[in-house]
Parts: sequence; structure tokens; C-alpha cells
Amino acid sequence: MGVVPHQLFASAAAHYARFRSGYPRQDVVALADRLRLDGSRIVLDVGCGSGQLSLPLADRAGTVIAIDPVPEMLTLGQQAAQAAGVGNIVWLQGDASQLERIVPPGAHAAIFAASFHWTDRPTVAQTLDRLLDATGAIVTINDDLDDAEQPDWVPAITEVRHGYLGTGHASEIERFTCPADDHATVLGHSPFSVIETLTWQWERQLTVDEVVGLQFTYSVSTPALFGDRAHAFAEDVRAAVLELHPSERVTEPFRLEVLIATRPTTHQLPDGFRGTSGGPGDPRSAYREDPRNGLRDDGVGLDLDQQCRVDQSTDLEYRGGRADDAEDLPVYLPHLPPTADVGDEHAGADDVLQPGTGLLEGDRDPA
Ligand SMILES: C[S@@+](CC[C@H](N)C(=O)[O-])C[C@H]1O[C@@H](n2cnc3c(N)ncnc32)[C@H](O)[C@@H]1O
Repeated sequence: MGVVPHQLFASAAAHYARFRSGYPRQDVVALADRLRLDGSRIVLDVGCGSGQLSLPLADRAGTVIAIDPVPEMLTLGQQAAQAAGVGNIVWLQGDASQLERIVPPGAHAAIFAASFHWTDRPTVAQTLDRLLDATGAIVTINDDLDDAEQPDWVPAITEVRHGYLGTGHASEIERFTCPADDHATVLGHSPFSVIETLTWQWERQLTVDEVVGLQFTYSVSTPALFGDRAHAFAEDVRAAVLELHPSERVTEPFRLEVLIATRPTTHQLPDGFRGTSGGPGDPRSAYREDPRNGLRDDGVGLDLDQQCRVDQSTDLEYRGGRADDAEDLPVYLPHLPPTADVGDEHAGADDVLQPGTGLLEGDRDPA
């Protein structure tokens, strides 16, 4: 019988809410900044689980629409939100294939935290091209640790698990968790082909009980897979970890890859300026990957948020903050007044930047 991603986590919900790590608040805030979340926008958290990301995101969104196929996950997420006094999350049962039916158009971001691999990724990206607003982003968040970087108790537990479940089930699941094309490749061929990569890294301390509970949160070792052998598996995991760590405490390391995928620029820039998409690894990515900015061959750029010119011709380093953060972009030329003409021989006198619209005055119909 094939793996059905929707159903895999049904028996894991209670353990998931209790034992699975959340995300560092400062990283979620930095992501919110990068997405320009200002407390008014709609954000989709697709495959939200029990709300690990939905709750911290809600601080910076107008509404988070948290979507998961597993009702138990949603109930636990809702309870956590209530306990935390968070009131701007809408919890929706459904899966990524139903997005167009269950969410209204106009959201600014669709975030897939540890969930994009469970979806039909190319189709989902096409759907989101119809649903997300003009500057919207798909964000994927996924574990990025190599096997060699895992702590010793991880392979020890894998061996115990194989003793119970064999290796066949895990390899079937790996078709989803380790797909042939990585997320960046899939997104690179989608309408959201401009990709910025962030890394989130942290660690946490776990007791042996917590390590045991954590096992039942994974798709390869949910309680349902063990049936009435779950208790015996738990005892064997405990023994394996204690043998390596008699102190009963271990460290769980995390390194996550966060991809922020946006559409290439489509707005009209003045003559001589072109879209700035630099692609992954471009050190000026924060500026260049904003589709509303433009760059000229001599290095002079337009920043549509700031209504100013940016001199990129010198050897400048853009350190990945928001394009409108003067500290991250110390090289702005003095700001021009809001109606100032940024033009020269390349940009005509009518080319006045219109904040937030991606349009220039000169692009408009004079009527
Ligand atoms: C590993 S959990 C991630 C939960 C949470 N986002 C987090 O970061 O901890 C994966 C979640 O994706 C959900 N899921 C599985 N298939 C899905 C699909 N096709 N569409 C949407 N969600 C799906 C599962 O029910 C599960 O809650």
C-alpha cells in the first residue's frame, strides 16, 4: 500500500504538539521583515501541523490561514493559540491540492514548514501563482543537516526502528522526504523562480523521555506504524539512548534551509534599467531579489520603496537585510523628495517613482 501523506501524521498529532521543536522567534521575525509583513497581510501556513510556525507568524500578519489535512493537528494548534491569546489565526482543514478552493486570492505568502515535500510541488506553485498577490512569495523551510552531522543517538534509534518496521516503509516515505529534484530546482522552474536562501541554526537540550516522545512525531515512526508494539519500541529507544548518554540528556542540533521564492520582476522600469534578479548566492540578494527594484549597467539602481537611487557601482556589500533598511544598505545616495525626478538621460522627466506600486508616473496613462 502506498504512502498517503495526508494520513501519515494523524496518529502523531499529540506527540507533535508536545515534543516537536518550534522555530526561533528572532528567525521568524527576520523572515517576516524580509516578506515585509506589517501586521496587515494574509499569510498561508500550509501543512501547519499543530501551529509551530503559525503562532509566531501571527504577530506580524493580519491573518494567518493555517491549513492541514489532519483535524487533530488543527485542534491542538487552536488550543495553543487560545492559550497564548493569539486571535488572528484561521484554522482550515485541507491539503495543498485544495488551496484554490479553500483560500481566497490575495495572500502575500504561502509558507511550507517541513511540508512542501508532501505536496505536488509544481502544481502547487502554479496554483499559488494565481492566488498570491503581485509581490507574493512561496517560502519553504526544511531540515538541512547531513547524516554525518546528526548526533550519535539518531543513527542508534534508526537501527532500533529498523528492527521493528524494517527499511521498506522508510524508503517509501523517502520518495517524498528526499525527492529527486530539490525544492530550489522545482521552484526555479516555477513562476516563483527568483530564490533567496536563508539558514536557521540552533540547538536544544532534551531529556531521554523527550527523545522517546520525539520519535512518534516523525512520519517514519508514528504511533500508528507500531500499533501495540509502540510501548516496546519506546522502551528500546530509551535503552539505546541511555547506553550512549547515561546523563539522560542529549543535544538536538538544527540547521534549516529557508527558501524565499518570488516571481521575476514584471513591472515596467524606465529605459536603461532592468530587473535586478541576481539569483541564489548573489551577495546583493536583498536588493536584487526585490522585483520592484531596477538596476542600470553602470551600477546605479532604483529602489521603488525608498524613492531613491542606489549606487551599486562601487564595491558594496549588501548584507541581506530589508532593502528599506538604511543600516543594511548604507550606500543609499541621499533620499530624493517623494516627487523627485530620478531620471537622467536614461529615465525621463516623467519617471517619478510611485511608492509600493511598482509603477512610474511616466508609465501611466495621462488620462
Ligand atoms: C512535518 S509536519 C510540519 C508541521 C509544521 N509546519 C512544522 O513546521 O512543524 C508536516 C505537516 O504537513 C501536513 N501535510 C501532509 N501532506 C500534506 C498536503 N498534501 N498538504 C498540506 N499539508 C500536508 C501533515 O499533516 C503535517 O501536519
